[in-house]
Amino acid sequence: MSEALFRVEKLTRRYSDPGREVLGLDQVDLSLAKGGRLGIVGESGSGKSTLVRLLAGLDRPTSGRIWYEGTEITGLPERRLGFLRASVQMVFQDPRSSLNPRMRVGDIITEPLRSRLVRRQLSAEVDHGARLAEVLAAVDLPADAAGRFPHEFSGGQRQRIAIARALAPKPEVLIADEPVSALDVSVRAQVLNLLTELVADQGLTLIVVSHDLMVVRHLCDQLAVMRAGRIVEQGATSDVYSAPKTDYTAALLAAVPKIRTGAGRGDSEPPGRFGEPKSGREGAHQ
Ligand SMILES: Nc1ncnc2c1ncn2[C@@H]1O[C@H](COP(=O)(O)OP(=O)(O)OP(=O)(O)O)[C@@H](O)[C@H]1O
Ligand SMILES: [Mg+2]
Repeated sequence: MSEALFRVEKLTRRYSDPGREVLGLDQVDLSLAKGGRLGIVGESGSGKSTLVRLLAGLDRPTSGRIWYEGTEITGLPERRLGFLRASVQMVFQDPRSSLNPRMRVGDIITEPLRSRLVRRQLSAEVDHGARLAEVLAAVDLPADAAGRFPHEFSGGQRQRIAIARALAPKPEVLIADEPVSALDVSVRAQVLNLLTELVADQGLTLIVVSHDLMVVRHLCDQLAVMRAGRIVEQGATSDVYSAPKTDYTAALLAAVPKIRTGAGRGDSEPPGRFGEPKSGREGAHQ
């Protein structure tokens, strides 16, 4: 078996809200090999975002340990997390809130390359203009997108901009937390197909959080099912689908609609490549 890229042991995150304590994550163990594609599913509040934020080093655990490529990151000061900041990139749910509306797209995408921590990890010679052109092409956006502002793009295109930003520092791991659930149904398939292609072309390790089990079924070869801060089931995606071990997982699977309705969350697609929308490329205001 290949060396674990991420390893997590008894990871716990307790939130202290005034008047109450919430156990966001409860003693989670996890291991992900390089090149793995892990889907994380579970009901709302089960701890999915908490887990991936900890993996990305955006939050600190209450207890437990995380190793990235054999280096323990738990407890490392921010100034020593540069390798993680360069190697692990996130794409969030809603590009309207994750992209700064006052910045031009080119500046948004190259922002990670300007971070002092990340810069120290990259070869000194990264040509920002060249990298910008590369990642714009990779996400299928025109070169002149660089000079425009996020509001000039459709939802699907904005998510492509967020993906381009994540790719800019040549990460090893892409973590996507509900990457398509804020998007119009008609463009979800395009963005998911793009992610599939990028992961294959660039040999990325992928972690995807989604409410929509069809999304992880297409993107991921491994599945972790979360409930109340714990991983209650874990295994190869095909095994979990064909023989769920818990009633909870069976219920989650059963909740996936079988028929494409054309509206609302949880629309499903048959296995294989996601269907393309009926009307060609996305328009300017989706
Ligand atoms: N910053 C916070 N302060 C207090 N409680 C929090 C915070 N973040 C998360 N929680 C709580 O921790 C638990 C897990 O939350 P988390 O956001 O990880 O769930 P999730 O599985 O991502 O849910 P969703 O599918 O709705 O995004 C929930 O009970 C949530 O209310
Ligand atoms: Mg979440």
